[in-house]
Amino acid sequence: MTGTPRKIGAAQLLPAEAVYADELRFLAAWDPGARPPGWHLTPRAAVAFVGGTGNETLELPGDVRADKDLPRSMRITPKFVGQRTLVERAIVTLAGERGLLLVGEPGTAKSMLSELLAAAVCGSSALTVQGTAGSTEEQLRYGWNYALLIAKGPHPEALVPSPVLVAMRSGAIARIEEVTRCLPEVQDALISILSERRLAIPELTGADGTVYAQSGFNVIATANLRDRGVSEMSAALKRRFNFELVEPIADFEVERDLVERQATAALERVGAALEVDAAVLEALVTAFRDLRVGRTAEGWAVERPGTVMSTAEAVGVATLLGLQAAYFRDARDPVQLLPAYLLGVVRKDDPQDQARLLGYWDAAVKRRADEGAPIWRQLWELRSILESQD
Ligand SMILES: Nc1ncnc2c1ncn2[C@@H]1O[C@H](COP(=O)(O)OP(=O)(O)OP(=O)(O)O)[C@@H](O)[C@H]1O
Ligand SMILES: [Mg+2]
Repeated sequence: MTGTPRKIGAAQLLPAEAVYADELRFLAAWDPGARPPGWHLTPRAAVAFVGGTGNETLELPGDVRADKDLPRSMRITPKFVGQRTLVERAIVTLAGERGLLLVGEPGTAKSMLSELLAAAVCGSSALTVQGTAGSTEEQLRYGWNYALLIAKGPHPEALVPSPVLVAMRSGAIARIEEVTRCLPEVQDALISILSERRLAIPELTGADGTVYAQSGFNVIATANLRDRGVSEMSAALKRRFNFELVEPIADFEVERDLVERQATAALERVGAALEVDAAVLEALVTAFRDLRVGRTAEGWAVERPGTVMSTAEAVGVATLLGLQAAYFRDARDPVQLLPAYLLGVVRKDDPQDQARLLGYWDAAVKRRADEGAPIWRQLWELRSILESQD
């Protein structure tokens, strides 16, 4: 084999607490104030971590003695953007007695927000259960190592704790992704955990038979409104959660900057730079937003495709354009690739969606082209790509 040998040992994607370890240490020193029991950061520092501090640089207060390798000032990178009050409410919820349920359309960064919140509150986002139709109660409570169970009988060592149980014992945040994909009777295992804050293990005797949640324990669940909504969740469980609706990013500039930042970061991970014109990125984000809401920025009505045109998908397309430009240097201008990628996003479940995208071209793209905007003129000339049947 020729070429550079493959580097082994580089993780593809690290969790938030590893990527932003320095920020977490800095923020813990920056605000030495009172924190909820078991928390690593104050609520104020947690908000700064999740949302970032924009152009503001935070300074460590003069009387704070920090480790030598910790800088005295730091700008906290933006991560979850757009809804600061939502972040504040989420953090307040976590300091209280109820769980936090983040609901919303696909790709609105519910999982990302839950990971960032967990990293901010307890320093780890690892205690996660991925809810699926096949999830069992054991995954939310505990199971057994059957070899040990047979050899020793019911014994604490034979117990296999779920991430939720580990979080209870260590006073950490447990994350349950896509909780509504679990069967309602499985979801209900959370009711007693959230209300009584303890878990009985009837097979064990004495003190081992009950696990009491330590301070700092709480649950962040996420649920997608498109799959199987929250309607099937039992009323009893719903009452144990504060619901927060995570909405798509409202502001165009905020979304465009995010798409650019995230695509740049994704390309950096493979050692490349994002070489896609600002005008192309702008057109990409504009098209996503127009199709998402069914109305263009100019107020023209367009038909919405059945697919959710999420920011996460926009980041995905921007990254693909960047990769194509990086790996096929002599290939076409990224703008020429945009229609085909957009078609790929739109044409997911409903064949009619291709026609809807063409409708968008005939209405909005053409009008903008007629008004003379060069990028839209180029896109209009590429219309035939959207008629392909493959
Ligand atoms: N407000 C936002 N702030 C930051 N990133 C966002 C925001 N909205 C969308 N994103 C993008 O979405 C990506 C994360 O998507 P994530 O998987 O967390 O969404 P999700 O809501 O959990 O989706 P799903 O319902 O499909 O699980 C981020 O990496 C980012 O690119
Ligand atoms: Mg998710």
